[in-house]
Amino acid sequence: MKKLRAGIIGLGVGEKHIAGYRSHPDCRVVALCDFSDEKLEAAGKKYPGVRLFSRAEELLDDPGIDVVSIASYDNYHHEQIVRAISRNKHVFVEKPLCLYRDQAVEIKRLLGERPDIKLSSNLVLRAEPRFRELRRMIAAGEMGQLFYVEGDYNYGRLNKITEGWRGKIDFYSVVYGGGVHMVDLLLWLSGDRVAEVAAYGNNIASQGNFRYNDMVVSILKFRSGLAGKVAVNFGCVAPHFHGLRVYGTRATFTNGYDHATLWETRDPARPARQITTPYPAAEKGALIYSFVESILHDSPAEVTPEDVFAAMSVCFAIEEAAQQTGPVVVQYV
Ligand SMILES: NC(=O)c1ccc[n+]([C@@H]2O[C@H](COP(=O)([O-])OP(=O)(O)OC[C@H]3O[C@@H](n4cnc5c(N)ncnc54)[C@H](O)[C@@H]3O)[C@@H](O)[C@H]2O)c1
Repeated sequence: MKKLRAGIIGLGVGEKHIAGYRSHPDCRVVALCDFSDEKLEAAGKKYPGVRLFSRAEELLDDPGIDVVSIASYDNYHHEQIVRAISRNKHVFVEKPLCLYRDQAVEIKRLLGERPDIKLSSNLVLRAEPRFRELRRMIAAGEMGQLFYVEGDYNYGRLNKITEGWRGKIDFYSVVYGGGVHMVDLLLWLSGDRVAEVAAYGNNIASQGNFRYNDMVVSILKFRSGLAGKVAVNFGCVAPHFHGLRVYGTRATFTNGYDHATLWETRDPARPARQITTPYPAAEKGALIYSFVESILHDSPAEVTPEDVFAAMSVCFAIEEAAQQTGPVVVQYV
């Protein structure tokens, strides 16, 4: 079988994408792209024979590439996705998919015209073994009926928005950049869709060194009646962590640094169970194997385009709600 040929744009987290493609026996990495000459030179030494580009357009126009990973800065994702689709390339894009709703609408339209092209996004919390176990428990009915879910994205690296590219590009949203992980996780765990959101934000933590909200908290009303909350907290004085609380009629799950806790009874005399399934454990390229499989076998990837559009649609509504007063109905892309 002819091997799938992958190209990667952006060699920050994109380095992890290289490992993801190389983990699949029927895929090889043939091209890399970065603005930085130093990074390209280092990549050339590490991966001899790989084509190196400093302009993304050159890689996207290269007919010898079947699938492209877009791990560039957020503001380039939309234009690179559009170009990749027009050049017959499958797309694995870092989150966020794009920065504006009309861009997502355009991407969806283009994919509709090209059903042979696969697209997925790196909503990688789905690969965490501890969250996979929780999903299995929910699906098996062990949590009972869910009635409240909470996700806290504690970024813990304020300097990345006050000093790096995130604070310099024309628009950066902590909801799209971080909150999307928790939104996707809650949609994936619950199998539900969010109907309406309300949200509030501030940028107190960044003390004038970041133009947009560095913290946004949102309340979610799901279609089934399930209630939820997502907080995105880039300025917290605490390590990077994904807080997750899932309340069902039969059990309550709380993620923790050392282990998760599962309460299976309201009887205070009976101890809670510790869940020690690894977290954090997933490599950033962990979803790529399944994406390659989806291309080779024309099957759905772990994160489908519909999943990506759904998570982004909720994030667009949260961002809008945080900039006004009152709830916003989610308009699905
Ligand atoms: N899924 C995750 O958990 C996760 C984690 C980190 C970053 N990300 C996403 O990955 C993307 C990159 O973030 P990062 O943390 O790797 O940043 P980074 O600054 O560490 O690395 C980005 C690299 O891409 C290069 N680059 C950016 N735009 C480019 C372009 N248009 N053409 C060529 N090279 C380009 C830069 O020179 C840099 O070397 C962002 O969209 C970010 O949101 C996702």
